[in-house]
Amino acid sequence: MIAHLFNAPLGESEAAVGVGTVGSSEAIMLAGLAFKRKWQNKRKAEGKPFDKPNIVTGANVQVCWEKFARYFEVELKEVKLRDGYYVMDPEKAVELVDENTICVAAILGSTLNGEFEDVKKLNELLTKKNQETGWDTPIHVDAASGGFIAPFLYPELEWDFRLPLVKSINVSGHKYGLVYAGIGWCIWRNKEDLPDELIFHINYLGADQPTFTLNFSKGSSQVIAQYYQLIRLGYE
Ligand SMILES: Cc1ncc(COP(=O)(O)O)c(C=O)c1O
Repeated sequence: MIAHLFNAPLGESEAAVGVGTVGSSEAIMLAGLAFKRKWQNKRKAEGKPFDKPNIVTGANVQVCWEKFARYFEVELKEVKLRDGYYVMDPEKAVELVDENTICVAAILGSTLNGEFEDVKKLNELLTKKNQETGWDTPIHVDAASGGFIAPFLYPELEWDFRLPLVKSINVSGHKYGLVYAGIGWCIWRNKEDLPDELIFHINYLGADQPTFTLNFSKGSSQVIAQYYQLIRLGYE
């Protein structure tokens, strides 16, 4: 349901790729890890160094991105804010991208003022840079605070998987009320964007259970409450 809400390019019977998490912080750790691993695998295959990954964000990012960078040893390259402009400038972000950039993270609903960053412009500029350099730097959208607003209030706004470079999106279920705290989501564009080696297949209860989360056990009440709201309220 959420992958469709974010316009993931899925065929009729194709399963969406995603995971329920404790919140956006965990979702972002996992998304970042997938980008890092994908970038490293590509660099290894090309016989190039893979020890200096970086990620480009605006200086307005929530602390979870700083945590991701520090915990997973990725250099954080922040686009500075300036007087009268308090989100990531896509032009400046693309200038910071180099061959070691695992992704550019844009925010839909900046923590500081709620403003949406211009993901469409970022996609446009990055596509051009990728064409010129031969890199294929992707985009992640941190839609913690906007992912369950934009599809309903601004359906025409292109910020999600309609943009080809957007490979993963996170959203916090618990930022909108109507659910219990402790629910977030990460959705990937498709299977290729989540390296298989990060998914563990366990069978403790008699059937295959793929798992890609930091914690293993958690309550299901949050998932059930979120599911109920989506079914009960639908688009309205
Ligand atoms: C843009 C953004 N990203 C990530 C987070 C972290 O979300 P969570 O509290 O669900 O881990 C927040 C929370 O304030 C946020 O505003």
